[in-house]
Amino acid sequence: MPIFQFEYEEFQNLDELNPSYQQLLTAARNACEHAHAPYSHFFVGSAVQLKNGRIVTGFNIENASYPVGICAERTALASAIAQFPDEQILALAISYQSEIHPSDRPAFPCGMCRQFISECEDRNKGEFPLILAGEKGPVVVVKTIKDLLPFYFGGKDLSK
Ligand code: THU
Repeated sequence: MPIFQFEYEEFQNLDELNPSYQQLLTAARNACEHAHAPYSHFFVGSAVQLKNGRIVTGFNIENASYPVGICAERTALASAIAQFPDEQILALAISYQSEIHPSDRPAFPCGMCRQFISECEDRNKGEFPLILAGEKGPVVVVKTIKDLLPFYFGGKDLSK
């Protein structure tokens, strides 16, 4: 029977990361401060590292009409792609703060974001890793969104 397995890295904390991932995760953590999350009080921040050296951040923006809200990673990726459509994405970091839920472990992207990130990766020049952590504690690095979205639906399914 076929088995799906994937490798990921786990670090004790930010200090164990390479300097560029440290910078990116710090940007994602700082972006949580700007989240508009008056309903869930779950403040998510995200940061995209581009090949041109720029870091583009985003955060969740909720809405009184709940489904209208958007997640942090989609905000960050949409902003990065809109500003720099031809620039290669090198990495994506996601973090969160929550008064209700302890933020000492990574939160993984929701299903809708996995689908969105997958398409961003397909239009990108190559895979890019996800760096996931709370405001402190362990950091998980996944080398591609496809590891979190096996058997994904994508453009290949719609090609003639
Ligand atoms: N949220 C994100 O921003 N990213 C995720 O991957 C998970 C969930 C947001 C959506 C909503 O504003 C809040 O967190 C609670 O679900």
